[in-house]
Amino acid sequence: MNPRSIILDTDPGQDDALAIFLALASPEIELRSIVTVAGNVPQPLVTENALALLEVAGRTDVPVYRGADRPLIREQYTAEYVHGDTGIDGAGLPPPTAQPQELHGVHHLIEACLSAPAKSITLCPVGPLTNIALALATEPAIVDHIREVVWMGGSIAGAPNTQGVGEFNSYVDPHAVHIVLQSGVPLTMFPLDVTHQAILGPDALDRLRRYDTPVTRCCVGMSEFYAHHDEDRFGFEGAVMHDPCVIAYLIDPTLFEGRRMRVAVELADPDLLGRTYASSHGAEVLVMFEADSDRLIDLFVDRWSSL
Ligand code: BDR
Ligand code: CA
Repeated sequence: MNPRSIILDTDPGQDDALAIFLALASPEIELRSIVTVAGNVPQPLVTENALALLEVAGRTDVPVYRGADRPLIREQYTAEYVHGDTGIDGAGLPPPTAQPQELHGVHHLIEACLSAPAKSITLCPVGPLTNIALALATEPAIVDHIREVVWMGGSIAGAPNTQGVGEFNSYVDPHAVHIVLQSGVPLTMFPLDVTHQAILGPDALDRLRRYDTPVTRCCVGMSEFYAHHDEDRFGFEGAVMHDPCVIAYLIDPTLFEGRRMRVAVELADPDLLGRTYASSHGAEVLVMFEADSDRLIDLFVDRWSSL
């Protein structure tokens, strides 16, 4: 089967970094480019992180485009309290030597989609949806070229992870979520309900440590750093692999189970802004709820250790 052609839209972020490594390690996926978005940490840090991660993986052939600097309407909200000052604390990487592309990330998304055959390209946003919303609002014709948008974000019945309201990516740019929901693009969503079943625990870390390559050292260091926040907050033993779930789904969809439902995002109540919820007025979305956790973690360890 031909590899699935994807663009990863990301705000690295330790779990974003692990999603990038998973995509690079997977023959089922052709990672065409990376677009960055302000999220876990501001621009230009997210862009520098993406470049540094590609460098340690020896994949500077993947172009990186710098995207949005801030959410559409809301003030910027970042998560150094989870990810550290760099966004990828624990990675232990030197600053990148490569530069991002000149073209803005939103223009790249539009150009890449328009030049692709109908329904051929998969967009994988694993951060706030700002770039995807800007691209869809600027050139709605891209919808016809998109096979699927697979987004890590939102929470349906799961515990919120940001400001007691919702999930970080939807909290940061709820207006972008609304634009994407209303665009008519085929959307698959990985909310906290499912990503909280993807925990990289001590056994998996021990397995990774045995490989002792530059990439596995980076994976272990980041996971150790990033585990602390959710361990304290949710009582997990390990680090939550939110963003890698999106890539794992493209590699092997049988790892997850979900259902079609209508989803909306709260835009009116200032105390609940960004909360995603089931609503008959919402857009139809495929929402994932269950993960085969053991097989998922095995996939992560196998692929990361192959880089
Ligand atoms: C999401 O927010 C970020 O902290 C992570 O990178 C992930 O994309 C989880 O809520
Ligand atoms: Ca992310």
